[in-house]
Amino acid sequence: MKVLLINGSPHRNGAIFRALKEIILELQKEGIETELMQIGMHVVRGCKGCGTCRKNHLGKCIFGDDPVNVAISRMQECDALIVGSPVHYAAAAGDITSFLDRMFYASRGFPYKPGAAVVSCRRAGSTAALEQLNKYFMMNNMPLVPSAYWNMVHGNSAEEVEQDEEGLMVMRTLARNMAWMLKSIEAGKAAGLALPPDEGKIRTNFIRTVKASSSEKDGQASEKKNAEKRSDYKDFAPYFTSYNKVNKAYQEDDE
Ligand SMILES: Cc1cc2nc3c(=O)[nH]c(=O)nc-3n(C[C@H](O)[C@H](O)[C@H](O)COP(=O)(O)O)c2cc1C
Repeated sequence: MKVLLINGSPHRNGAIFRALKEIILELQKEGIETELMQIGMHVVRGCKGCGTCRKNHLGKCIFGDDPVNVAISRMQECDALIVGSPVHYAAAAGDITSFLDRMFYASRGFPYKPGAAVVSCRRAGSTAALEQLNKYFMMNNMPLVPSAYWNMVHGNSAEEVEQDEEGLMVMRTLARNMAWMLKSIEAGKAAGLALPPDEGKIRTNFIRTVKASSSEKDGQASEKKNAEKRSDYKDFAPYFTSYNKVNKAYQEDDE
């Protein structure tokens, strides 16, 4: 059993690295193998929404010049994923956000492999960042691994995190819970427990044609006004118009 850990900080030996180290040591005590990926100073581009990965069923991102596709392929061998990020402006850091957007969109996630996120911050914004990161797992059938309290440490450096005894206890507990969950899944498989049945995806959107509520005349007048507004918008922001066209074409292909 193996866990992939991704350090989403530019600091290879910084605060969140210290938290991940605590998890790694505890997982190893439990007989679980670990692999740590460092985003470090890699430049990670954001998802361009081109849809090439899905249209062509690539299972990876069309852009191969950063470690996103490496992480996707490592997850084929790994049984679980732990993501660590520093808090930047009450959110996960920009690079790890871009990294996970592309990793999850291109691969369609890693169903039934447990996941957990941990964050570090000096003072605040950690719960918002955690919530953001947990969503990648929750939207992709990945069981979230819990701990005894919030999955976060406090400090600006590894040395400061060293003093956060409670944070480190939470990290060790998370590691033991992860080991327990992996062993439970393994035991379930050995006993012949099948994965839950997949009923397939139903995709809808919220775009509906809405009739004008007052008289038809009023409706026509307001439709004319809206059409004028839309054409103003088109001239004002041609970039957004062409972006939407790309997306629309992709969505139609994907149906
Ligand atoms: C751009 C930037 C934004 C930050 N925003 C916050 C913040 O909103 N709240 C906070 O408590 N700390 C914030 N910090 C501090 C980091 O979260 C903190 O130092 C973190 O533990 C660093 O982890 P690292 O050494 O692994 O990169 C910010 C740091 C940077 C560089």
